[in-house]
Amino acid sequence: MPPKKHSVELVKIFDTTLRDGEQSPGNTMNLPEKLRVARQLESLGVDIIEAGFPIASQGDFEAVKKIASVIKKSEIAGLARANDGDIDRAWEAVKCAAMPRIHTFISTSDIHLKHQLRKTHDEVLKIAVKAVKRAKKHTPNVEFSAMDATRSDRDYLCRVFAEVIEAGAVTINVPDTVGYAIPEEFGSLIAYIRKNVPNISRTTISVHCHNDLGLSVANSVAAVANGARQVECTINGIGERAGNASLEEIVMILRVRRDLFGADTRIATEKIYPSSRLITSITGVTVQPNKAIVGANAFAHESGIHQDGLLKNKMTYEIMTPQSIGLSKSSMVMGKHSGSHAFRKRVEELGFSLLDDELKKAFQRFKDLADKKKEVFDEDIEAIIAQEVLRAPDLYKLIDMNVVSGTVAIPTATVEMDVEGKVVKDAAFGDGPVDAAFKTIAKITKTKSSLLKYAVNSITGGTDAQGEVTVRIQENDTVVVGQGAHMDIIIASALAYINALNRLEHAKKKTGRGLYQ
Ligand code: KIV
Ligand code: ZN
Repeated sequence: MPPKKHSVELVKIFDTTLRDGEQSPGNTMNLPEKLRVARQLESLGVDIIEAGFPIASQGDFEAVKKIASVIKKSEIAGLARANDGDIDRAWEAVKCAAMPRIHTFISTSDIHLKHQLRKTHDEVLKIAVKAVKRAKKHTPNVEFSAMDATRSDRDYLCRVFAEVIEAGAVTINVPDTVGYAIPEEFGSLIAYIRKNVPNISRTTISVHCHNDLGLSVANSVAAVANGARQVECTINGIGERAGNASLEEIVMILRVRRDLFGADTRIATEKIYPSSRLITSITGVTVQPNKAIVGANAFAHESGIHQDGLLKNKMTYEIMTPQSIGLSKSSMVMGKHSGSHAFRKRVEELGFSLLDDELKKAFQRFKDLADKKKEVFDEDIEAIIAQEVLRAPDLYKLIDMNVVSGTVAIPTATVEMDVEGKVVKDAAFGDGPVDAAFKTIAKITKTKSSLLKYAVNSITGGTDAQGEVTVRIQENDTVVVGQGAHMDIIIASALAYINALNRLEHAKKKTGRGLYQ
């Protein structure tokens, strides 16, 4: 057993779900969705919310500004490349926050300097210092990131950090931008920075790891063991390529192994599971069943030996409880006799905080479902909330649908939709009932996307279970995911397809700039 540590130091959680997470394909969110995520992150106890990259697009700017105006308990960071335009725009977006932060960055690796920036070490150093000084004119709370730090020359990296700290950076971030580092090596890099940057004690060391080799979480905790006191991460590990380090894993590693790290976070861990479900509901991107902490099987013990041990003493095979991450099964059966108070209580237990009118809307859908289904499970309630509440006002809505199919009939769908406030009705044939429905919807919405993926899942067991449909569609270079749930899987399919078309419209409007443009 490793030696126990008695004092506990605080590690700040910097969540970048709304920036690094959101910028990856399939995870695009609109403003109301981003706002809901920001509120959830605040109640989760995240120290810093990176709300977006304000210069990237008008939509990003407005979302960051709105989030900055409503969130009070977390710092709000806006990302900016190391130039005046980006920095001033980021400040414009975050300045109304209770605790604003400007996060500016530039690459420091030779490979990026030579091929991308086409600048010398000295030139990049000057740009970095100038950027931090510019940001400092706006706020004392400035973070500097050395992009591709793990492939940078260590001594040059230390020189850059020393100079930006001198210029006023209060957080220096060490990104493993391409997910190249190995835990021991990354830990030793943090130790090297602590030893070789003379003014390091004036700043917080942060890390930001990508998961290309599946090591983002291992690298992040190796950094904490070597003195990093801020970790950048995302819910469910969403993000560019293989994703970012996952918040839930880092937080639970530090909580469960506090004895080893002597460090912990402020995160209210019982809100982890609802936060994970919220991201899944909004993006439509599901987590793998065997994912640590929040996967469907993370607490499912199938083996007889394990079950026997657990019955005798939970500690035999359980290093943390499902309740500690907010996974609680209700002892209360919900059905058509359940009233609005019981419904509200269950919704709250599931970790959702809904406004009164949202609750009313969800309760109405719950009643409709309970009329058809004997027992309504937690998963049904989550699906109702995802569909009725979490989704933003849509351009296209389904009003009515009838589908004919069978062994002899030609599958035909008749669909009535609300398209930007106008009622439009049409019909089409298809190779099957879903195909007929999709063809009619495409006709009504005058859209020409191609279907990349179609998957049906049963939300709970039983023949009266709701079907949850996920579709992935593409138009030109834009790929989006849509989800729909209903007891009738053809209707669930239509809802998923319409949800994807709404997301496509939103994504098309977002003509953003990438980090390097
Ligand atoms: O991965 C990266 O290097 C980044 C920086 C902007 C911090 O996302
Ligand atoms: Zn990143």
